[in-house]
Amino acid sequence: MPISNPKRYTVTAALIYANGPIHIGHLAGCYVPADIYVRYLRSSGKEVAFISGTDEHGVPITIRAKKEGLTPQQVVDKYYEQIDASFKALGVSFDVYSRTSKPVHHETSREIFRDLYDKKVFVEETTEQYYDETAQQFLADRYIVGTCPVCANPNAYGDQCERCGSTLSPLELKDPRSTLSGSKPVLKATKNWYLPLDKMQPDIEAYVNGHSEWKTNVFGQCQSWLKDGLKPRAMTRDLDWGIKVPVEDTDGKVLYVWFEAPIGYISATKDWLIQKNGSEEGWQKWWQPGKDAAEGETKLVHFIGKDNIVFHCIIFPAMLMAEGNYILADNVPANEFMNLEGDKISTSRNWAVWLHEYLEELPDKQDVLRYVLTANAPETKDSEFTWKDFQTRNNSELVGIYGNFINRAVVLTQKFCDGKVPQRGELQEIDQAALADLAAFPGKIAESMENYRFREALSLIMDLARTGNKYLADTQPWHAIKTDPGRVNTILNIALQISATLSIVSEPVLPFTAAKIQDQLSISGKNWQDAGDADLLAVGQPVLEGKLLFEKIEDSVIEKQVQKLHDAKRLNELEGKTVAPVKAEIQFDDFAKMDIRIATILEAENVPKSKKLLKLLIDIGSEQRTVLSGISEHFKAEEVIGKKVLYLANLAPRKMMGMESHGMILMAEDRDGSLAFMQPGKDVWNGGTVN
Ligand code: 2FM
Ligand code: ZN
Repeated sequence: MPISNPKRYTVTAALIYANGPIHIGHLAGCYVPADIYVRYLRSSGKEVAFISGTDEHGVPITIRAKKEGLTPQQVVDKYYEQIDASFKALGVSFDVYSRTSKPVHHETSREIFRDLYDKKVFVEETTEQYYDETAQQFLADRYIVGTCPVCANPNAYGDQCERCGSTLSPLELKDPRSTLSGSKPVLKATKNWYLPLDKMQPDIEAYVNGHSEWKTNVFGQCQSWLKDGLKPRAMTRDLDWGIKVPVEDTDGKVLYVWFEAPIGYISATKDWLIQKNGSEEGWQKWWQPGKDAAEGETKLVHFIGKDNIVFHCIIFPAMLMAEGNYILADNVPANEFMNLEGDKISTSRNWAVWLHEYLEELPDKQDVLRYVLTANAPETKDSEFTWKDFQTRNNSELVGIYGNFINRAVVLTQKFCDGKVPQRGELQEIDQAALADLAAFPGKIAESMENYRFREALSLIMDLARTGNKYLADTQPWHAIKTDPGRVNTILNIALQISATLSIVSEPVLPFTAAKIQDQLSISGKNWQDAGDADLLAVGQPVLEGKLLFEKIEDSVIEKQVQKLHDAKRLNELEGKTVAPVKAEIQFDDFAKMDIRIATILEAENVPKSKKLLKLLIDIGSEQRTVLSGISEHFKAEEVIGKKVLYLANLAPRKMMGMESHGMILMAEDRDGSLAFMQPGKDVWNGGTVN
């Protein structure tokens, strides 16, 4: 059963691996909805701890370190700074953004592990695991690749095949190889500690089944795990990067990252209190309200992406149940994935919109991104981000509806009411209807927020802005001013009251914009309880002119972003391609036989019936020659005229398509097969030689 009226909320957002920057998929899946929820709760006067940070252990970190030629510590330091800064710049309002490398986290994780160990919760088991004899190391799941037993993908990982999505164990892979050395790993016995999820299944089932209100995607995924039957899972790993196992004689072993990472929420709460008060005292009220406390006093909500569901809905609750003193998540409103321009977002393929780059290239557009990611959030199924949609939503919705309404209300007040909130006079039916709408919206929006339906909340917020626009269009104060200024006072009072409420209810999604509006309307300290109030703004209160809240985004801005995406992907693909090996050695005499010289292309035309050939007339200094060059798939005839080129002059003539070709133009071939002319860096006369 969900908790209905808690005293306080512990809200967590996934501790992302500090192995790369944040992209829009992370934001849409987890961080923007979490921030909206927390801002809504705070505005409603609730006591909240908003907890997050970076996950700094596990194989993803060591793999990244290897790729970047850094130590794992350097990797996590680098990305922690970057991630923390970009969240701040986007206005994600964590109370604490901690790190799992902090001593408080190591201590807390070790304590919980030791507690479960002492209570004999774990099952100790010796199993055979893959070991790389060259690298002298056990191979965690991601360090092994092999052929997928399900779809025959030759590059499936030890824990998962990315082609068919099957969950795998390393022992299931055919032809396994180590990604560290490329060698074939051997099996070696090792002892680890397992959480016996199989034995715990009835308790976990009771917990999950008590939450049929969870989102269908979350509840469904849990049911499918439960139906398959839970299996024991190792809570320690043979790795050297991580938190040492707090048990004697366990050198070379660390806590499984998925054991300690969620404990990171608890240690981050302690870290928050340490930073704030100098001591962790009081952390329990967020996690262990205590035996005397009323049930449901603290409501725990985890925001995550869908790939983290099993860890937050099954494994972490199982650990906490076994410990016995902790509250369990009341809800885990995980989102599905957001795709990008028709393709899955992929860090390794560089197909992503990176937050730190967005913030640099589109400054002061934090709210536009928050808006678009919410309007299009993958709440019930995967969704899609396109730059075109980003532009349309900005131009038609934020500029055209929301910004337009606020701007009209403010500008008309400047013009007709001396820049002060005017007094309402007698109300007509249309005014009463507008005030009734105004009063009703905050409650409806709150209901969507409470139920984690942020898309719906945003659509209602926009409906309120539409209501305001329609009210102005129907009442036409710009005409009424000529005949009935008193009427204009009533209209603008109402329009301004709607604006004030709009700023409050949209603050969770558009915090920067809400602050600007509240500056313009000279209000501060108002919150959700004040929303919908017809007298939120006092008569006579100043209304200040401000800059436009949103600006139109031009096509060129969008085109540049799309181009950038494609360029980045292409570069990344090229990086993965191999460079041709150097050919067999030759002697200087072999080279000296070649007459390479500078020439200029004078004329060019397509060769009829040939897909590849261009017929070129070139000036080689001493004479003009005809060359047939296989470049017409890469260049148009008119593009090449006038180009200075390198020319191999003494290649024996060849007949092609019934014509004779003399010599050869030298071209560079890129890794993707595209061609480029080799042009001299400084102007060289035709006939100049290349030695
Ligand atoms: O998927 C990830 O990036 C994980 N590091 C999330 C961990 S969430 C929590 F358990 F800490
Ligand atoms: Zn597969």
